Parts: sequence; C-alpha cells; structure tokens
Amino acid sequence: MNQPFENKRYAPIGVFDSGVGGLTVAREIMRQLPTERIIYFGDTARVPYGSKSKETIIRYSRQIIHFLESKGVKAIVVACNTASAFALEVIRPEMKMPIIGVVKPGAKVAAEITENGRIGVIGTEGTIGSQIYTEMIHRHNPQAEVLGKACPLFVPLVEEGWLKDPVTIEVAKRYLSSFQESDIDTLILGCTHYPLLRSMIQGIMGEQVNLVNPAYETAQGLKRLLGQHQLANDGRESMEPMYQFYVSDAAEKFKNFANSILPCEIEEARLIHIEEQL
Ligand code: DGL
Repeated sequence: MNQPFENKRYAPIGVFDSGVGGLTVAREIMRQLPTERIIYFGDTARVPYGSKSKETIIRYSRQIIHFLESKGVKAIVVACNTASAFALEVIRPEMKMPIIGVVKPGAKVAAEITENGRIGVIGTEGTIGSQIYTEMIHRHNPQAEVLGKACPLFVPLVEEGWLKDPVTIEVAKRYLSSFQESDIDTLILGCTHYPLLRSMIQGIMGEQVNLVNPAYETAQGLKRLLGQHQLANDGRESMEPMYQFYVSDAAEKFKNFANSILPCEIEEARLIHIEEQL
C-alpha cells in the first residue's frame, strides 16, 4: 500500500536487478545511506537480461516497478545496466517518483578520470550493443575513445557463485584479451554482476588500469536525488525491517549468496510471481 505523502521520506527505496548483481548496488546504498530502508527485487527466474530484446526488458522493468510501487517505495534504483540502457528513459516519463539508473553515473566518472581518453567498457550484449556508455561518455568528454566488449558468460558464472574459479579466470582472460594493446587507462564494470569479479579483472588488466564500479556514484546520485525531492530519511526508527528481499525463483540460493556479500545477515528472500504484475 502506498503511504501518505507526508510519510514518504520514511518509505523504503526500491532496488532491482535480474538477479544477484544489483546487490553490489544495494551494498553501496547500505554503506552510504545507512538510514535508508531498501526493498530489493532479483528477477532470478528470468535472468539473464543481457541477451534479451529491448521490448522484453521494458516489459520486465514495468512489472517490477509496479510490484515495488505496490510495496510503497519512495524512489527506484535500476541496479541493472541492461535495464538502465533499454528501459530507463522509456519508463521515466511514466513515473511519479524519482528513478535513477547505473549507466549515467558510471559514464560520468569514467569520462572525468581518464587521462589518455581511452576507456574500455565491459557489459552484457544488450548494454554494449545499445552503445549507451559511448553516448553518455561523449556528453562529458567528446574526444574520448570508447571500446566496448560484451562478456555474456560472466553473469551465469557469478550467479553460480564461481567468483574465484579457474574456469571463470580462463573466461575472463579470453574476454579481456580484446583490450590488449588498446592502451585503455580506465575500464567500466558496466554490469552490476561484474564488481563481484573485481579483483580477478584487476589482476588480468594490471594496476595501471582504473576500474570504475558505477555502484559508488549511483549511491551518491541517489543521495542527491532524495535531497532534491525532500525524501531523505532523517533516521527515525521504523517498525518495518530495514532490508527486504524478493525474488522470482530460487529464494534459498539467492539468500545464501546475499549473505556472502552483504554487510548484514538476511533472514529470508521471499518468492513472488512477477508475471502476475500488470
Ligand atoms: N546485472 C545486470 C546488468 O547490470 C544484468 C545481467 C544479466 O542479467 O544479463 O546488466
């Protein structure tokens, strides 16, 4: 149920992704905005999003936003690059509440920190094919050269929990070899699953390459957005749980994964039938 407007600042923030990847963004929101409550939805029944069409991702995103709205959230964080690339600008005009994605914040910081103007982006097929990072980077740094590489096997490997597995290292070496001799000094982790492979990717790329995890800037952007809309929670105690998690499949597996990466212990991830929304 939606809460009355005057209580909106105490309402939770809705965060969603295709699966566990958005937890890297939720984790950053927990760190930077510790008084904010979160309702997270992971679309574990329909992951991966990265190989699906724009129309499908828009439909999925609308269903999830409808579900999060029904839980009374005050703002939405699209913690998925693919959904940010395909659905955010289509859905934003339909929304009454603030909504933020992960692409713009990540592109801005990469455009600012690159010294030689050569930026790599890794992401899903959808995100890389959309060219959205190139477009956003050029808004801040028109001279920058942007090299994209889709890494579709990373998402299933992360969802499987193979974060340090030799198979994942082998796959990463093969994908990242496309940046050899490209002389990039900045690499955007353009999929929210990839920060979970951060140290492996850094090891392969070398310390001279700055890795950009858009989660940090997204949480900063969210903080500004809540401030602008007078929606920031001043820390008043709530009877409601701080963090709630919902998934469309494999709730126990999701819960165990979340507990391995979040700074808090979650007791349950609740299963919902997302296809019934709208
Ligand atoms: N973690 C998502 C992203 O940032 C989606 C990955 C997928 O489901 O393919 O793009």
